[in-house]
Amino acid sequence: MKHVISAGDFTRESIERVLASAETLRPIWESRQPREALTDIGVVRLLFAEASTRTAGSFEEAARLCGMPSALTAGADATSLIKGETLGHTGRMYHGQNAWALVMRTKIEGGARWVAEMATRYGLNLCVLNAGDGANEHPSQTLLDLSTIKRRLGRLDRFRIGIVGDLRLSRTVHSFIRALRLLDNIEIILVSTPESRLQWWYTEGMTNVTVADSLEALVGCDFVYTTRIQRERFPADGYESKRVRGRYVIDEAVLKMLGGKTLIMHPLPIGDGEIHSGILMHPQVIVDEQAANGISIRMALLQMALAGQEDVTELDTCEPEVEVIRSVSAQESIARKDAEDRRFLPIPHGTVLDHLPVGTGDHIKKVLGCDPAKSYVGHDGGLRTREPVVKKDTLRLENRFLTPGELSIIGVLVPDVTVNSIRDGVITKSKIRRVPEVTGIGHCPNPACVTNHDAEAALFPHFHVHGEDRGVLTCHYCEQYFDRAEVLA
Ligand code: NCD
Repeated sequence: MKHVISAGDFTRESIERVLASAETLRPIWESRQPREALTDIGVVRLLFAEASTRTAGSFEEAARLCGMPSALTAGADATSLIKGETLGHTGRMYHGQNAWALVMRTKIEGGARWVAEMATRYGLNLCVLNAGDGANEHPSQTLLDLSTIKRRLGRLDRFRIGIVGDLRLSRTVHSFIRALRLLDNIEIILVSTPESRLQWWYTEGMTNVTVADSLEALVGCDFVYTTRIQRERFPADGYESKRVRGRYVIDEAVLKMLGGKTLIMHPLPIGDGEIHSGILMHPQVIVDEQAANGISIRMALLQMALAGQEDVTELDTCEPEVEVIRSVSAQESIARKDAEDRRFLPIPHGTVLDHLPVGTGDHIKKVLGCDPAKSYVGHDGGLRTREPVVKKDTLRLENRFLTPGELSIIGVLVPDVTVNSIRDGVITKSKIRRVPEVTGIGHCPNPACVTNHDAEAALFPHFHVHGEDRGVLTCHYCEQYFDRAEVLA
């Protein structure tokens, strides 16, 4: 493992591997005896541009116990990020100062993914560990949460868990849910006010999730994972956050109602008394134990990053699946008076996009950046029936063939297109059957996304494609889901 960016990258096996490694490293943390210093590896740079007590402190202690030199930069205004420097440039500077690993927390969503990718583009050997990127992800927190469950229960399946509070904006919840998806025979109950509900995509396709608005839904849970309202991510006037704060408080009475076996977890900090101070020492409240498990987890992550440091990270290049449906000789086609194919003959060499929805031809021409002198949009009626009604557009591109990237783009914009490639007197007709992703086009509508904060990242828009009609796109960086029309407007 080289980078730790998102729980969406985890597998059940990788989770187990980290948890097992943390257990073997635990005696080092329990005995407070650091490993022999590794003097020749450079430094672990800890960049915390958002507040942190546990994550920064435990990564720092984890590095010390692993014998790894580290340096902490903490505070929103502690770096040139505040002067407008990009995250990519910040990462390059730290690498130049001998950082081999960058543990980073910023409010920029997708920032860690971008810095890891930037390092690959620049050929830098830098491991990136995401310690929280805005409201998006907090993967090391999830690993310590899972380690707490496993240590208490002896297994990572067959349990019932309630997740309470600010599900919409808590990155700890987002990462946690992505990992819980990988576990078997668990039941999840999500409790929040309507304003703080979890976005639909986190639980899409899961059949083991119930949504509720009252703590009573949690009776009999093995674990209740409660969270604070992320007030810093609400509008600054505080009005909206005040409305949802203090709505769910776990106190003595709630503990009784839940039953004697429910363990209370929280990523911490407690923000508005969501766990009543009077029960913090109750044996069912295991939040400090949970936080403490973070040290050996982060030791494991640093060790695994160091071991994987030399791994070559490939940048994603996921090509579309294109199926050839027919090849016809242009001459034969003329001979057969195949009216439909003859329409392509004015271009002896090039591409004709057929079956474009009416009115889309000019847009596709613009998107593909076509040479106006060598591209022609047709508005065709039924050629065979000679109906006057325009039924479709066509786009003829002289001496131009589409790259896999361009095929992906049109495969998302006009999924039913037929692509006719004409060369050496042969017309090859193809359909675009699957488009995993589109790159180099589109704009992420999330204002907190790194592509809206970093001029370099903005040059590499990248979306994963979902849905039967390819109508939903996920930003590769901030991992949010959007309608195709919002991204490709
Ligand atoms: C969390 C975070 O920063 O996302 N804290 C932590 O790292 N344990 C939770 C929070 O701030 O609510």
